[in-house]
Amino acid sequence: MNTTVIQNSLKKDQSVNPQQTQFTNDEATQKPATSFVSQFDTQSSSKKDEKSTNVKLSTSDVHVYYGEAEAIKGIDLNIYENEVIAFIGPSGCGKSTFLRTLNRMNDTIDSCRVTGKVMLDNQDIYDPNLDVVLLRAQVGMVFQKPNPFPKSIFDNVSYGPKLHGLARDKYDLEEIVEGSLRKAGLWEEVKDRLNQPGTGLSGGQQQRLCIARTIAVSPEVILMEMDEPCSALDPIATAKVEELISELSTQYTIAIVTHSMQQAARVSDRTAYFHLGDLIEVNATEKVFTQPDHQLTEAYITGRFG
Ligand SMILES: Nc1ncnc2c1ncn2[C@@H]1O[C@H](COP(=O)(O)OP(=O)(O)OP(=O)(O)O)[C@@H](O)[C@H]1O
Ligand SMILES: [Mg+2]
Repeated sequence: MNTTVIQNSLKKDQSVNPQQTQFTNDEATQKPATSFVSQFDTQSSSKKDEKSTNVKLSTSDVHVYYGEAEAIKGIDLNIYENEVIAFIGPSGCGKSTFLRTLNRMNDTIDSCRVTGKVMLDNQDIYDPNLDVVLLRAQVGMVFQKPNPFPKSIFDNVSYGPKLHGLARDKYDLEEIVEGSLRKAGLWEEVKDRLNQPGTGLSGGQQQRLCIARTIAVSPEVILMEMDEPCSALDPIATAKVEELISELSTQYTIAIVTHSMQQAARVSDRTAYFHLGDLIEVNATEKVFTQPDHQLTEAYITGRFG
């Protein structure tokens, strides 16, 4: 746990966020946050112990601007290998914007400008000579609203490996497709219909298809946006994806944006709380939901605003 980063974020927050005072009422500072405690009774705290302490992705003083407006105000964050880190915070606080800085998806937005440094291992991902297509394979992105290509299930998964020349021959490609669908927990459901359109699958299956598509190019990091408003999956489909996230985290580093605090509590090792473009607090998920360091975090998780 990088306490310096948190302390820096706190200092930064106090200095640049004058609106903060509007949330510092007595209630927010005195009342303990208890609403999520029960969820941790059944959670194994050893989960975190197995995780690596190697930094996989690191951001330093990252600012993001849309035209003149500053959406991310200087964020320092280390993301560790094989951890699941959840980004939470009120609508408009910059979660999606920050997530997109991690694989340069913001490049696709004309008005958007990013400053600061983002390192993937020892590589500066904003290096102008960097191959962005390759970067987005290394740091893949899965959206909650599934977006399969209008192609067969097989072609959806084989597209990336073909693009990146990852398969030696047809058999190798078939193996990659099967392996990816297996890892995404979809193989048994689709193995007899690989040539049918991906768009013909159910919502939950399409989401796992998109996860398989991301996995197929052997990413190191998977970014997931699970907060799109009109894509609610049923509880069983959601549970399947959440189970999948913990399985995938043994092999990949995962950053997930979610509107659901329960989901963050269920799937993540650490949680980062964003507020008005600042990173207010990043801590072990259990701590964030039971004894947050910052009163803004507490006000949010206890539902006093957001
Ligand atoms: N393409 C864009 N052009 C201009 N401003 C944008 C754009 N995308 C986001 N913003 C602004 O940047 C800020 C952060 O937005 P962002 O989408 O990152 O928030 P968020 O935390 O993901 O919110 P939500 O929970 O609603 O998805 C907001 O003020 C938003 O209006
Ligand atoms: Mg968002």
